[in-house]
Amino acid sequence: LHTLPPVQLAQKYFQIFPEERDPLWQNPCHDKRHKDIWSKEKTCDRLPKLLVIGPQKTGSTALHLFLSLHPAISSSFSSSVTFEEVQFFSGPNYQRGIDWYMDFFPVPSNVSTDFLFEKSADYFDSESAPQRAAALLPTAKIITILINPADRAYSWYQHQRAHEDPVALNYSFGQVIAAGWSSPAALLSLKHRCLHPGAYSTHLENWLQHYQPSQLLIVDGVQLRANPVLVMDGVQRFLGVSPYYNYTQALQFDEGKGFWCQRMDGGHTRCLGKGKGRKYPDMSPEARSFLSEFYREQNIQLLRLLKRLGQPLPVWLREELHSAS
Ligand code: A3P
Repeated sequence: LHTLPPVQLAQKYFQIFPEERDPLWQNPCHDKRHKDIWSKEKTCDRLPKLLVIGPQKTGSTALHLFLSLHPAISSSFSSSVTFEEVQFFSGPNYQRGIDWYMDFFPVPSNVSTDFLFEKSADYFDSESAPQRAAALLPTAKIITILINPADRAYSWYQHQRAHEDPVALNYSFGQVIAAGWSSPAALLSLKHRCLHPGAYSTHLENWLQHYQPSQLLIVDGVQLRANPVLVMDGVQRFLGVSPYYNYTQALQFDEGKGFWCQRMDGGHTRCLGKGKGRKYPDMSPEARSFLSEFYREQNIQLLRLLKRLGQPLPVWLREELHSAS
């Protein structure tokens, strides 16, 4: 029998099994062999039962706030590295391992009733997130929020401008979405990041490869914005969380902000920061009709997908396909 020192042995192993170079973390407590060698000091309870997967600019921060107001629901701690979100399953943080991930969650005081969750809006359109999430959290519930992909793209573009992205500052929205293949690489990259998450049916099918339809709730982002109390009732039913929390008491519409906010004592409100619910000019009719056409096939596929799943059709989707036909 030949052997080698540990590092060389590992190198040899990964030469023979290159497909195993990328880890796929599973719950150590789901496999007796892993559980036996898992430190007694550790727990498997610091893992979320719910992932809010985005996509970006659909109201995911508002949903995060509303969920956190519920007495039985606790969010992950915010990360100083990745703009508050943990972003574990979607990028390089995944290599940091599950101890790193679990450290973002409080130890639940009652494992069966406490509901831990995490919101990372870049999970939605990540190639690898669904498989990775399902490996570690096979019984988790998944919530996604959808608005018209054209509005999502426009909001994202405005977000980039507000953050002084030089490419977004240099090019109009119309120029970004219509950039042809011979455009500068930085413009094409911005265009891709702007438009790619809006391919809703492609990304949802990817999640449905790894999760059962009953584990997935698709929230209409327009409804979340206009009537969060109603949406949060549906979310609570979907999660099966108790006690029932009456959001009518917890939320209040703020006329100045133009959005629903947390109701505080003395008739005050606490709203999301100025980066959420920005004021900017309406999208031009040209850009809107360009994007209607651009997303038409994806929207048709989304309609079929929602019918297949027996999920209600968002009003924006009906209107979009009606006006495009
Ligand atoms: P705009 O700033 O373009 O209006 P996310 O949190 O996923 O980045 O989404 C931001 C969007 O959430 C905002 O986009 C806003 O329209 C929407 N939103 C929905 N409900 C909101 C609320 N109660 N407060 C602030 N923004 C809300």
